[in-house]
Parts: sequence; structure tokens; C-alpha cells
Amino acid sequence: MERRSEQRRPPLVPPAYAAVVADFDPSVYGASGIADEYDVLYADHWETEAAVERLVELAEGGPVLELGIGTGRLALPLLERGIEVHGVDGSEEMVSKLRQKPGGERIPVVVGDFAKADAGREFPLVVLAVNTIFALPDQQAQVECFRNAARHLVPSGRFVVEAWVPDIGGFRHNRLVRPRITRPDTISIETAELDPVEQIMRTTQAVFSNGSVRLYPANHRYAWPAELDLMAQVAGLHREERWADWRRSPFTADSEAHVSVYRR
Ligand SMILES: C[S@@+](CC[C@H](N)C(=O)[O-])C[C@H]1O[C@@H](n2cnc3c(N)ncnc32)[C@H](O)[C@@H]1O
Repeated sequence: MERRSEQRRPPLVPPAYAAVVADFDPSVYGASGIADEYDVLYADHWETEAAVERLVELAEGGPVLELGIGTGRLALPLLERGIEVHGVDGSEEMVSKLRQKPGGERIPVVVGDFAKADAGREFPLVVLAVNTIFALPDQQAQVECFRNAARHLVPSGRFVVEAWVPDIGGFRHNRLVRPRITRPDTISIETAELDPVEQIMRTTQAVFSNGSVRLYPANHRYAWPAELDLMAQVAGLHREERWADWRRSPFTADSEAHVSVYRR
């Protein structure tokens, strides 16, 4: 007989983990329509200025390869600072936004999966920002991404990964609703479902503004920092630094995110 607590627990929404992996498509992020409002939604959300400052230092003159270059939030300011930038992105829509901006046409971009794509040369710095490592569907793909980054590094080159530290304590019955954007004219609320066995979080962000609602789904195969360190080791890299943010704040037990610098 089932225990009472198990009887009351709603079933996990079909984990569909196999489907998440089998159907993985690197173009899906941009296909949701997010490309049209990515810059407006996240303009003041990410720590762009400090990130660019740190990347300029770490690049030691460049060039830099950005995996998941998107609309160029980091790439264009790096270019303005005199650093040659190359990119990989799975989404034609995101890359087309980059192309429409001043300088965007000067950035060579390979459209494809950054776990596999070949940018055709080596770099002193490869960067993967804002949790995008978690966009890959499973551990194997994430290890492949570390290997691919390592293949693109000159000897002693660096791979910088920014990601959140998984915090699943707030989930109840593996579900969570939380506010993300809270502005007078735009708010967004995210629903999240957790599959703790496969470390998959499936989210949909609902953005409300100007009388309309848009839904942006995204899957995350999340990993704790130590697992990312091990992936780096598997790829022949070692960790040189870990900060809590791009301002080099110390990484502590309370840190909600990390910027990790791996070295070949
Ligand atoms: C959250 S956006 C970050 C964009 C940019 N790096 C920034 O910091 O603003 C993630 C980007 O990664 C791309 N992306 C996600 N998974 C990918 C994959 N497997 N291969 C290539 N690009 C991918 C998306 O299309 C999107 O442009």
C-alpha cells in the first residue's frame, strides 16, 4: 500500500526526458520569438559592463570566441574595445538581430550547435555566458561542449563559463512559480518543473506588457559547479578562478551564480 504522502503527491508531469534529449534542436531558443525582445527584456538584467571589463582582461588582446553569441550583448562592446570577436549560435533569428546592429556584420558567426560547431581557428579566450551551458540537453552534450571549447583554445587559453548555482530548495512537489522581470510596464512570471533525477528543469516565462502576453519555454539541464569542474577536467582543462559574479566577488556558500575560468 502506498504511503499517504505519496498518494497526495501529484504525479510529475511526464518527465519526457528522453524526448528532451532526442528532440534537442539548438535553434529552438530563438524560434520562440524571444529574439524580437531579448535586448529590451534583458537590457538591465545581466551584468554587461562588468562582464565586458573582465572579458577584455581575460582575452589578453583576443580574439575571442563566444558560444551562444545571441544578439551581441557582450560581443559588440568587446568589438568596440578593439577585440576581434567570433561567434557560434544555433538561432538564425538571434544572429540576424546581431547583424542589424552597428558592427554586427563584422563578426563571423557559425550557425550551429556550440557543442559541435567548428569556428575554424584557435582563440586565447572562449566564453559561454548566462547559463547557456544548461541549454544543452544532457551531461554528455555538456561534456562535448567543454571538449569543443578546449579544441578552440590556444595552449594555456581560457574557457569562461557563467552559470547559476542550482537552488532547488524552493520547489514544492517539483514545481515552482516565481517572478523574473518586475518593471512598471513589463512583468514576467516563470513556471518551472523539475526532474531531479535527470537534473532537468523545464520552464516557461510568461511576459506581460502592452496588453499582451508572450510565452517563452526553455529547458535547462542544470549542474552544480563541481560537476562543471569535472566536465572541464574530462576536456583537459583545469579551473583557474571561480567568482560569484563578473566583478570578481568571492564565491561563497551563499552565491547564487558563478563565473568560472578554466584553462587549457
Ligand atoms: C540566453 S542567450 C545569451 C546570448 C548572449 N550570450 C548574451 O549574453 O546575451 C543564449 C543564446 O545561446 C543560443 N544557444 C542555445 N543553445 C545553443 C546551442 N546548443 N548551440 C548554439 N547556440 C545555442 C541561443 O540561440 C541564444 O542566442
